Amino acid sequence: MKTTIPISLKIAVLGKIKPTAEERKHLSGIVSYLMEKIDTTASELGMHDISARLVGSAARGTWVSGTHDLDLFIMFPEHTSREELEKLGMLIAREIAKEAEKWEERYAEHPYINMRFRGFDVDLVPCFRVPSAASIKSAVDRTPFHNEFITQNIAGLEDEVLLLKQFMRAGGVYGSELRTQGFSGYLTELLVIHFGSFENVLSAGCDWHPGLVIDLKGHGTLKHSDPLVVIDPTDPKRNVAAALSIDKFGRFIDICRSFFEDPAVELFFPPPVDPLIDLEILERIDIRKSAIIAVVFKTPDVVDDVLYPQLYKMEQSAAALLEQYDFTVFKTGSWAGKDTVVLLELESSIMPDVRKHIGPPVWMRKHAEAFRSKYEGSEDVFSMYIENGKYVVDIRRKYPDAGTLLRSRLSTCSLGKQLTSSVTGGFEVLEGAEICRITDPDFRVFLRGMI
Ligand code: UTP
Ligand code: MN
Repeated sequence: MKTTIPISLKIAVLGKIKPTAEERKHLSGIVSYLMEKIDTTASELGMHDISARLVGSAARGTWVSGTHDLDLFIMFPEHTSREELEKLGMLIAREIAKEAEKWEERYAEHPYINMRFRGFDVDLVPCFRVPSAASIKSAVDRTPFHNEFITQNIAGLEDEVLLLKQFMRAGGVYGSELRTQGFSGYLTELLVIHFGSFENVLSAGCDWHPGLVIDLKGHGTLKHSDPLVVIDPTDPKRNVAAALSIDKFGRFIDICRSFFEDPAVELFFPPPVDPLIDLEILERIDIRKSAIIAVVFKTPDVVDDVLYPQLYKMEQSAAALLEQYDFTVFKTGSWAGKDTVVLLELESSIMPDVRKHIGPPVWMRKHAEAFRSKYEGSEDVFSMYIENGKYVVDIRRKYPDAGTLLRSRLSTCSLGKQLTSSVTGGFEVLEGAEICRITDPDFRVFLRGMI
């Protein structure tokens, strides 16, 4: 289906997100300076077969104005050993970083430097110059091949990529990091190349189903259980959309449909969300008549890609603990700032003191007698009777309130390594109106999306 959207809409959006000639000139000035600096530094250090390469959206003309992110790769000959690459790569990178406003060493599969340089957020990444993306020695070696494929196929479609990135960012589905689990920059570029335009991607998106396979070069299908499979044209074994969660996949379908219902500029630039004020929180709790519980603890000092998967896991374990004790969990969510909050909504945080415990059939003599003698006369048993041929005791519930259960058992749950040490260091359980004690405006914005 070919769909057209008002050209004025595209112009209005691009007017805000397309880098101006001046911005582009500024960026290429910085890039040439850094590339030359890498070359001269390498030769001064006696390394001759090393080259610098700009990759990522800045190299492809697909960066959104105002995002100042440069990915500079320092490429070493393939036969270089990993130790040498790390040692020499970082030697060059540190030399460049001397001119940075600030910098730090980071670790992915191997170390690299992230620096702030004249207002740009620059990654200096050592990598191997391998002959093909299928023969990479390290995950980052794939990137130059992505670059080559996109630069060869994107001409004339750059604006379409900008529109798609902005649309996805506004809808909360842009970014492949583990916190977002959305669409990466490279993925948006491949979608635009495959479908031909921004609106074609969106009109296809309206009818997506999980299990969709997009295979630009006809490499043949991959066995994957991911909701979306986009076979990497530069590496047939890789799914470019591997990081996309089923919920972000669903959210994208939803925003595509909203777009065609009313293609408005606001969909690209949503107004900022106001933090909930105390009164609104109280009102919402009152209307829902559910039980809202917040588990609060100090945020561990780890990168987002470590923190968020552990938080999502903690939501699951806390819900499983509550369900094990008969509470009904409605939904969970988590937020991290200076403190971390795991939010749980239950149908009720209070259960009756009595719980029904079903025993063996009376005619199973051995088990039945053991059951009866165990519970008969116990002060925690309110009554014992026979129902459907089985002994039943109405017994005192160990944890009739969810708050107490969490306070006493949460630290026994399986949590990720860093969260375990943070949680055992102390946590607080806030219930209902008490969540007003969390005043961080960013938390209050998150809360608006939860209750
Ligand atoms: P970036 O995350 O900077 O993406 O990764 P980008 O394409 O430049 O997009 P924006 O505009 O900054 O958001 C740089 C390159 O690293 C590779 C891709 O080739 C990407 O273009 N990469 C990054 C991946 O292959 N997978 C990822 O999950 C992230
Ligand atoms: Mn980038």
